[in-house]
Amino acid sequence: MRDLENIQGSRIYGRRQGKPLTPSRQKLVDELLPRLVVDAADSDTAVEINDLFAADIEDLWFEVGFGKGEHLAWQAAHHPNTGFIGCEPFLNGIAGLLGHVEAQSLENVRIFTDDARLLMDRLPDASIGRFFVLFPDPWPKARHHKRRFINPGNLDVIARLLKDGAELRVGTDHMDYCRWTLMQLMRRDDFEWIAAGPDDWRQRPAGWPPSRYEAKALTQGRKSAYLRFRRKAR
Ligand SMILES: C[S@@+](CC[C@H](N)C(=O)[O-])C[C@H]1O[C@@H](n2cnc3c(N)ncnc32)[C@H](O)[C@@H]1O
Repeated sequence: MRDLENIQGSRIYGRRQGKPLTPSRQKLVDELLPRLVVDAADSDTAVEINDLFAADIEDLWFEVGFGKGEHLAWQAAHHPNTGFIGCEPFLNGIAGLLGHVEAQSLENVRIFTDDARLLMDRLPDASIGRFFVLFPDPWPKARHHKRRFINPGNLDVIARLLKDGAELRVGTDHMDYCRWTLMQLMRRDDFEWIAAGPDDWRQRPAGWPPSRYEAKALTQGRKSAYLRFRRKAR
């Protein structure tokens, strides 16, 4: 276990709330969110994954910083027997995901409304089949690189959480973050990059729907990288 005090002492640097919620979104936050939320109150207790979901799930997939939730909702709709945990502290984003959950009657989504790292430390070893970090904040200034989510400490935890052969997906429109991610992963012996040629990371793979940030980058003329890494067998 990492030092939770250290994590709690560190900050989430993004916004927690933007524009006021519409009444219908506020209703979802008041009424639907409490049914889906992964409790953060007792941060020392290990999470029992099977207790989170009403039905038996075949696998658990995890998304950090789901934004408005369009990617997570797509995955949940296409993989109804997989349980999903999405982490996002931004309330307007949480409300966005709740809108998708309600509209598509998704039963397999749970939400952690805080720093993903607090929950990651409470999950069992080799419990996750796929881990998404899509368009993480790039923190372009060198003095802010330590805030980047892809970093050695978080990768140690992700490696612990992933099942053998499971996939870590990192999407970014920021080419320095792309290089950074490759450097962080390639120096490790517990992950391998799944790419035989440039098309394997320059083209969005099947089963990887666009997210809001990716679409925004495209309208601003930036292409994205789609990096996939396999957790090697222990
Ligand atoms: C640039 S946005 C990308 C959103 C979305 N993934 C997309 O592609 O549209 C990054 C998101 O990550 C969230 N975030 C940043 N650090 C986080 C953390 N430690 N745990 C959970 N979410 C985090 C932010 O609140 C923000 O919504």
